Amino acid sequence: MKVKSEARSNIALVKYWGKRDPLLNLPAAGSVSMTLSGLTTQTELEFADVPHDLIVLNGTTLEGKGATKLSTFVDRIRDASGEYRRVRMTSNNNFPTAAGLASSASGFAALTVAAAAAAGLELSPRELSVLARQGSGSASRSIPGGFVHWHRGELADGTDSFAESVAPPDYWDLACLVLVTVRGEKDIPSTAGMNQTMATSPYYQAWVDSVAGDITEALAAIATKDFEKLADVAERSCLAMHASALAAKPGVLYWNAKTVDLIHSVRSLRSQGIPCFFTIDAGPHVKVFCEAAHADRLKLVFEQDPNVIQIIMASPGAGARVVPS
Ligand code: PMV
Repeated sequence: MKVKSEARSNIALVKYWGKRDPLLNLPAAGSVSMTLSGLTTQTELEFADVPHDLIVLNGTTLEGKGATKLSTFVDRIRDASGEYRRVRMTSNNNFPTAAGLASSASGFAALTVAAAAAAGLELSPRELSVLARQGSGSASRSIPGGFVHWHRGELADGTDSFAESVAPPDYWDLACLVLVTVRGEKDIPSTAGMNQTMATSPYYQAWVDSVAGDITEALAAIATKDFEKLADVAERSCLAMHASALAAKPGVLYWNAKTVDLIHSVRSLRSQGIPCFFTIDAGPHVKVFCEAAHADRLKLVFEQDPNVIQIIMASPGAGARVVPS
């Protein structure tokens, strides 16, 4: 049976940075995110009598390390289902991969949903999240939609480290403007950045210790739709994560000059009375959150900004699912 699935990317409001188990992608702390409507991966997959997995990503057949990583991931589904044939799969992102925006979250979430269904596995959202997490940590958060809490979990087997929705997409009309600052820049992959931070940063433990309190605050801000509170905790979490990475030896620096310029612009807009805040992941782009009513105005501002080469607009998005093919 050929299955088609769809999943969206997500952006963390309280960041995930550091693993307590690198093989199972178990996080050192929990995190909170919003699933994004605008950044979607569509995957079509079937198990077939072919000699090896055939994986085409955005029109290019995957080879080498990338192919091995995905095959190893599909092996987990083969082992769980007893469907040991190889996969034939195509996956496409509707957002420019050359922009350097991580697509692993939406990609692994879409793959998990498609492969599980094609293998005849009937999994709960929680089980799908646990599985997606093993492909890429943040993919666990792209299984649910809307506003999402990924639980750190305590168990060594990772079965209690899953993400779940705390509010649906239509709960709070927020917008996220992804400000692309540079095209196709090679970043330090998130796992390498995390590992270096964990192994060498004197600030790493302080970062981990700060996360639980930030999660409580972010969840409370979401529960009460307190934008100011969410702005404070999200910027703080982002800056603390990057501070821990910057203090690694050698320092892990994801920002370029445009990133820093945009941080100042967002703070200046906020002090002028436009409610907005920034967050930044393992790359030089800046994501600006606002209430939807302010999105058009902010878009106009950033369209004039020479630091920005492209703007992708997103709003709270749905979770990963099988769609009609
Ligand atoms: O799951 P990964 O390996 O894509 O790591 C994600 C790390 C950050 O994007 C920097 C933070 C986060 O919580 O998404």
